[in-house]
Amino acid sequence: MRFYLETFGCQMNVNDSERVASLLSQSGYEPINDPIAADLILLNTCSVREKAAHKLYSRIGELKRRVSSDKAVFGVIGCLAQDEAESIFRRSQSVRLVMGPRSIGRLPILLDRINQGYPRAIDVAQNVSSEFTSADVQSRIHQTVGFVTIIEGCNKNCSYCIVPYTRGRENSRSPEDILREIDSLIIAGYREICLLGQNVNSYKFIAEKGEVSFANLLEFLAKRTAGVRIKFTTSYPRDFDQDLVNVLAEYQNLCNWVHLPMQSGSDKVLRRMYRQYTRRDYLQRIEMLKNSGREFSLTGDFIVGFPGESEEDFQETLSLLDEVKYDGIYSFEYSARPHTAAMYFPDTVSAQVKTERMVRLVAHQTNIQKTHLQRYVGRTLEVLVEGKSAHGSELSGHSACNRVVNFDGNENLTGNLVDVTVTTAHNNSLFGYIS
Ligand code: SAH
Ligand code: F3S
Repeated sequence: MRFYLETFGCQMNVNDSERVASLLSQSGYEPINDPIAADLILLNTCSVREKAAHKLYSRIGELKRRVSSDKAVFGVIGCLAQDEAESIFRRSQSVRLVMGPRSIGRLPILLDRINQGYPRAIDVAQNVSSEFTSADVQSRIHQTVGFVTIIEGCNKNCSYCIVPYTRGRENSRSPEDILREIDSLIIAGYREICLLGQNVNSYKFIAEKGEVSFANLLEFLAKRTAGVRIKFTTSYPRDFDQDLVNVLAEYQNLCNWVHLPMQSGSDKVLRRMYRQYTRRDYLQRIEMLKNSGREFSLTGDFIVGFPGESEEDFQETLSLLDEVKYDGIYSFEYSARPHTAAMYFPDTVSAQVKTERMVRLVAHQTNIQKTHLQRYVGRTLEVLVEGKSAHGSELSGHSACNRVVNFDGNENLTGNLVDVTVTTAHNNSLFGYIS
C-alpha cells in the first residue's frame, strides 16, 4: 500500500503531516511522491483564511482528474477537515476519510474501517488529551529543521481566529517526551530544532517536582542540547515575560529570533480583536528584549482591514513598524471565519480598502528593511545550510536570527551549520561567503 500526502498551511501542519506519515509507515504504508500510483491520497489542510477552502476543492478535482483509477482512497485531514467535515463529504463524493488535527492518533482505526469496506470514516473529536504521537525520524518532511510540537491547541479566542475551534483546547506535552523526540532528531543529525505551539507561552506541565513553565522548559532543553540550535514559534505578547527573556539572553544555543505577532498598532482594534494587551504592553516586551544584553531579530504578524479599522488605526500600525523595526513581517488581509466573534462585527472594511492598506503596509516595511538589514553587512552569522537556493547555483540557508542567507558553496554542506560573512543585504535576504 502506498500513500501520497500533500500539506498546506503552517509549520504545525508540516509537523502534523510528519506524525501522520509516521503512523502510516508503522501501519505498513509506503510514502510516494506521485499521486498516480497511490492507494491513499491525503490532503492536510488549512482554514485560517477563507481562500484555503476554495483551494482544497479545486485541488481535489485536479487530483481526481490525474488519478485515473478508482482504487485510491481520498482523505482530507487538518483544520479545514475539522471545520467543514460535512460539506467536504457532501461536495466531494470521492472523499472517504475526514480527520481533524486532534485525532491523528486514531488514523489507523479510521483506515481499518475504510479497508473493511465501510464507505466513509470520520473523526473530528476535539479536546482529546490522548497520548501524543510524535513523528519518527524517517518520516520527516523537513530535512534540516526538526519540528517538535510542545503544546497543542489554543485557549485564547482572539475574535478573528478559527484556530481554537479547529485545534481545540491547550494540552502540553511532558518535558521528558519532548526531550526524547529532540534526542532522536539530534542522533539523526539535525542541527536545529523548532519548538511549535499556537501559543508557546501557555506551555504548562505539572510535574512531580512542581510546575514547568515555558521558560523552565526552554532552559532545561538549552542545557541538554549544546551544539544544536533551538528556536520556537509562536509567542503570545501578553505572556512573553522577563523570565523567558532572561533564559533567551543567557543560552547562546537558543536562536536570537523572536516572532511576536502584534496584529494591529491601534489599541481600539486590539481591544476588538480580544488580544488582551495594549500597544504599550507590546512595546514594553520589545524593550525587555532590547535591554537584555543580547541582540534579537524580531518578526511579527499583522492583520489589515479588521472590522472597524479606520485610516487613523491603520496609521498607528505603520508607526508601530517604525518604532519596533522588525527584520520582517507577515501581513494578512482580514478574512471573516466561521465560529469566530468578529464574523458578526459590523463596520466591515471593503475589499478594496483592505488590499490598498496591505500594499501600503508591505511597502512601508520594505522601506524599513532596506536600511535595517544593512546592519548585518560585515558580520559573520552561523547559517544552517538548507540546500540549493530556488533560483541560481548558490546555496541557501538561514541564520540563528532567522534571516535567509545565500552564498556559494558545495551542496554536500546541506544540514550543517557554517559561518557566513555577509557582504550584501537585499530587501528580503542576505548574501555572503563562507568564512
Ligand atoms: N498563534 C498562531 C496564530 C495562528 S494564525 C500561530 O502559531 O501562528 C497565524 C496568523 O494568521 C495570525 O497571527 C494572524 O495574523 C493571521 N490570522 C489569523 N486569523 C486570521 C483571519 N481571520 N484573517 C486574517 N488573518 C488571520
Ligand atoms: Fe489564534 Fe489568537 Fe490563539 S491568533 S491561535 S486565537 S492566540
